[in-house]
Amino acid sequence: MSQFTVLGIETSCDETSAALVRGAGGNAATLASCVILSQDVHMVYRGVVPELASRAHLAAIGPVVDRALTDAGATLDDVDLVAVTAGPGLVGALLVGVSYAKGLALAAEKPLVGIHHLEAHLFGTTLDDPAAVPPFVGLIVSGGHTLLMDVSSWGDYRLLGETRDDAVGEAFDKVGALLGLGFPGGPAIEREAANGDPARFRFPRPMLRGGQKPSDPDWFDLSMSGLKTALVYAVRASQDLDADRPHLARGFQDAVVTVLVAKVMRAVEQTGRPRVVLGGGVACNTALRAALVTALASRGASLHAPTPRMATDNAAMIARTGLFRAGEAGRPVDAEARLPFPGLVTR
Ligand code: KG4
Ligand code: ZN
Repeated sequence: MSQFTVLGIETSCDETSAALVRGAGGNAATLASCVILSQDVHMVYRGVVPELASRAHLAAIGPVVDRALTDAGATLDDVDLVAVTAGPGLVGALLVGVSYAKGLALAAEKPLVGIHHLEAHLFGTTLDDPAAVPPFVGLIVSGGHTLLMDVSSWGDYRLLGETRDDAVGEAFDKVGALLGLGFPGGPAIEREAANGDPARFRFPRPMLRGGQKPSDPDWFDLSMSGLKTALVYAVRASQDLDADRPHLARGFQDAVVTVLVAKVMRAVEQTGRPRVVLGGGVACNTALRAALVTALASRGASLHAPTPRMATDNAAMIARTGLFRAGEAGRPVDAEARLPFPGLVTR
């Protein structure tokens, strides 16, 4: 395969993004450009407002795509394939990207492929770190999803565990709101926790009950609701929230990190994979990364974590997945149409 250029477009939530990735088959790919416009309109509402997200995508998508082409020193003529996030995500937001990509592909006579956003999170890390390739245990921890997977090769995914209720990022966001921190809660909690005393508050470690064994259906699963409730009670009981905030944040973060590390280690032990690849916004959390590095080192396994730019939503990971799924170009693309996850075998 000669050099192939993919234009990626991502509008599933509150980032309008376009990127160009070039590759010639195999694992090697280079990022030629990546433009990410984060919508800040949602901050005042402490959460993403779908209608506002769609409108902001509509205003930004044209200039963002143009800029991605310019940054790469390319024109539409140089593009061999358009790849767009088809789902999951906010349907109005997805429709902006899908409609734009369809129009662009039709007008420029380029093939189009719809990409699953969660598969793309697995590919994001490899743009930063060429060693982040299968076989590996994948942990996607984003605002909307928590997935623990065994990835034997690209396109071949076995779901080991997922959350029973809230996604990990969602729990960070809700606890952030509870503590009076801004949106998104994850980065704010991490900052607070850095000054927190780990011994002041000890919260439950959900789904890590004594006596659990690999044959239990929840061996790999996660749950955030009990931990969130524990935080609600602790905040209510606090006499001085300003003084307790860093310690509450630390107690919460420690509980989440302990559970995630334990589940990842179970997956590594069961599959024998030599690598763990992180993806999704929560992969930015330095406490989580540090704890995983230490735990994995004890088994001679390595952690591959994305830079914050590739961890959170971006079109580079969509373009990179497009490079892998180029053979599927031409299939009808509709928002949410390509679910479930291509190649994902559930338990
Ligand atoms: O992957 P992402 O950008 O969007 C989704 O696809 O959902 O992830 C966003 C999530 C938010 O819930 C945010 O609070 C969380 O990632 N997050 C973090 C950190 N940075 C972002 N959570 C914990 N620690 C962080 N440093
Ligand atoms: Zn995402």
